[in-house]
Amino acid sequence: MNIKFSILGILIVSVLFVSSCYYDKEDLLYGGANSAPCTDTTGVISYTQKIVPMLQQYCYSCHTGSFPSGNQVMGTYATDKAMAQNGKLYGTINHAAGYSPMPKGMAKMSNCQIATIKKWVDSGMLNN
Ligand code: HEC
Repeated sequence: MNIKFSILGILIVSVLFVSSCYYDKEDLLYGGANSAPCTDTTGVISYTQKIVPMLQQYCYSCHTGSFPSGNQVMGTYATDKAMAQNGKLYGTINHAAGYSPMPKGMAKMSNCQIATIKKWVDSGMLNN
């Protein structure tokens, strides 16, 4: 291999390296390439405006009605708060050891969505 090809090779590798760093940062800042910028964790997290729409999209289809999956009832403030209090809400969406990963059979929720739910839990699970 002559010197020109080696330089070209190094250039290509550097460009790939730099662009992969760029994606890493984007992942950290925005919680994954497929999600909007994570501005949701600023301020007080509203149960009705932020948490319910997410649980509706990812959980309620299986965990409401007369025969909720795994006998885990969701869909009202009382049931969602109970699941948050016993640690199962955060444990399952964060795919923590000892919990069944949720939403079942689907991609993990984005870092931003998980962080938003965690903040709601940590700040007292307000019914707001
Ligand atoms: C496609 C259906 C489906 C969806 C969507 C779904 N679940 Fe589940 N879930 C199940 C089934 C089935 C079980 C029981 C079997 C198991 O534990 O894997 C279960 C079990 C659970 C459990 C008990 C597991 C444990 O480790 O104690 C919790 C808590 C739970 N789900 C929460 C959620 C949350 C929160 C969401 C939304 C992020 C969600 N689920 C979305 C089907 C679903």
